[in-house]
Amino acid sequence: MARGAQSRYVCQSCGASVLRWEGQCRTCGEWNSLVETVVREEPRPRVLAGGATGGGAAPVALSHPTEAGDEPRRAVGIGELDRVLGGGLVAGSVVLLGGEPGIGKSTLLLQAAAGVAGGPGAPMVLYATGEESVSQVRLRAARLELTSGAVGDGIRVVAETGVGRIVDLARAERPGLLVVDSVQTVASEELDGPPGSVGQVREATQRLMELAKGEGVPVILVGHVTKDGTLAGPKTLEHLVDVVLSVEGDRTGGLRLLRATKNRFGSTEEVGVFEMGERGLTEVADPARAFLADHDEPAPGSVVAPVLEGSRPILVEVQALVAPTGAPSPRRTASGVDPNRLALLVAVLGRRAGIGLGSHDVYANLAGGLSVGEPGLDLPLALALASSLRDRPIVTGTVAIGEVGLLGELRAVGGLDRRLREAARLGFARALVPRPRGRELPAIAGLEVVVVGTLRDAVRAAVASQPGDGRERP
Ligand code: TYD
Ligand code: MG
Repeated sequence: MARGAQSRYVCQSCGASVLRWEGQCRTCGEWNSLVETVVREEPRPRVLAGGATGGGAAPVALSHPTEAGDEPRRAVGIGELDRVLGGGLVAGSVVLLGGEPGIGKSTLLLQAAAGVAGGPGAPMVLYATGEESVSQVRLRAARLELTSGAVGDGIRVVAETGVGRIVDLARAERPGLLVVDSVQTVASEELDGPPGSVGQVREATQRLMELAKGEGVPVILVGHVTKDGTLAGPKTLEHLVDVVLSVEGDRTGGLRLLRATKNRFGSTEEVGVFEMGERGLTEVADPARAFLADHDEPAPGSVVAPVLEGSRPILVEVQALVAPTGAPSPRRTASGVDPNRLALLVAVLGRRAGIGLGSHDVYANLAGGLSVGEPGLDLPLALALASSLRDRPIVTGTVAIGEVGLLGELRAVGGLDRRLREAARLGFARALVPRPRGRELPAIAGLEVVVVGTLRDAVRAAVASQPGDGRERP
């Protein structure tokens, strides 16, 4: 099947090519840098973003109006997905949807396919599955009640792993959307490497991009991510495609967050929040409150933080547990928060706020399986640790946000006004914040804003030093 003469192993470091795979490039000495690549006699035109082909185009002055910016879009009909896409699928765009196995990628795409097939103009959708059989996809569709009517007729499923065949099918059927689930299972007949190898994944993506740009068909590729959070296969895929989306969340819990990490046709500031239920993913009505855990009593080790996910404020509960240990190197376990940040906060708390955790195991996580990278999470996390160590809840109805510096000083975060408004709307009465940079404190009805300069002050203001103090506001 494979025609060896058409494939070469190309060094990703120096560009040298050889006929057979070798562990080390003979030209530049780099290890594991050879990737199987299709070599054509006539180089095919390079496909650029936005549909331009490299051949013979004349330069255009920036002042000259172009149609860019009002690309034809098709709304998928799922509000949260359309919002993250920037208003719908752009004709000829290639979207990569990443996420851990079992998180709900296939479910989301089947629902998106239904939105397109049942939407205005009702074009058909081609769903190429390499992971599951047609009957497995059908079972999922039956569960989602998508097997009847225009939607049932409009979604055509094909179990196919040959990228050439998928492209031919799409050229013949001209679907309104092509879904390839997943890019790691498709392979080109021209390469020897197994599906999922760097060369195969890249070649398959190139072929699908040519199809998308040439025919104006939007293509969504599923890509699995590995445990460490990178898209399995090559990172290079992210440079090729127009939009990179990821589904995150705790597989055992119901909430899912859809994020755009790259979007050539929209902002990466939008996030979508879904809940996985018995009938697939539904949009969450009030995302700001979705990640708050409910408990009636204030609990030690719990602090609510108004974080910004893109432009959307979301209140999230930071939870910490510290437990004494005799072990020479105590555990530091973080989930949903950066473990390096956790280690740093433990050190700063010890040296700058008199809260020593050197002989304690420390666990920290975010409720709802959310994962947040913003530095504003420092202060709530540090307060949660202090609250757990003292076994006292923080003052009821309080939120906290702010970055912590190595000296124990607190630094402002952006978008304070938006965050605090959302906290007030959800019934919080008090906010601990660093002094905003050069600007006035936002005045928000019903919210007492307490400015704290250092971590030590913040602990004093938030964590009651007497048992029971946390039950009432001071
Ligand atoms: P799936 O979309 O197959 O995940 P992925 O394609 O990312 O691997 O979804 C997998 C999980 O979702 C599976 O454990 C079952 C669950 N699920 C529901 O809870 N409700 C539903 O309606 C569907 C279709 C799936
Ligand atoms: Mg799947």
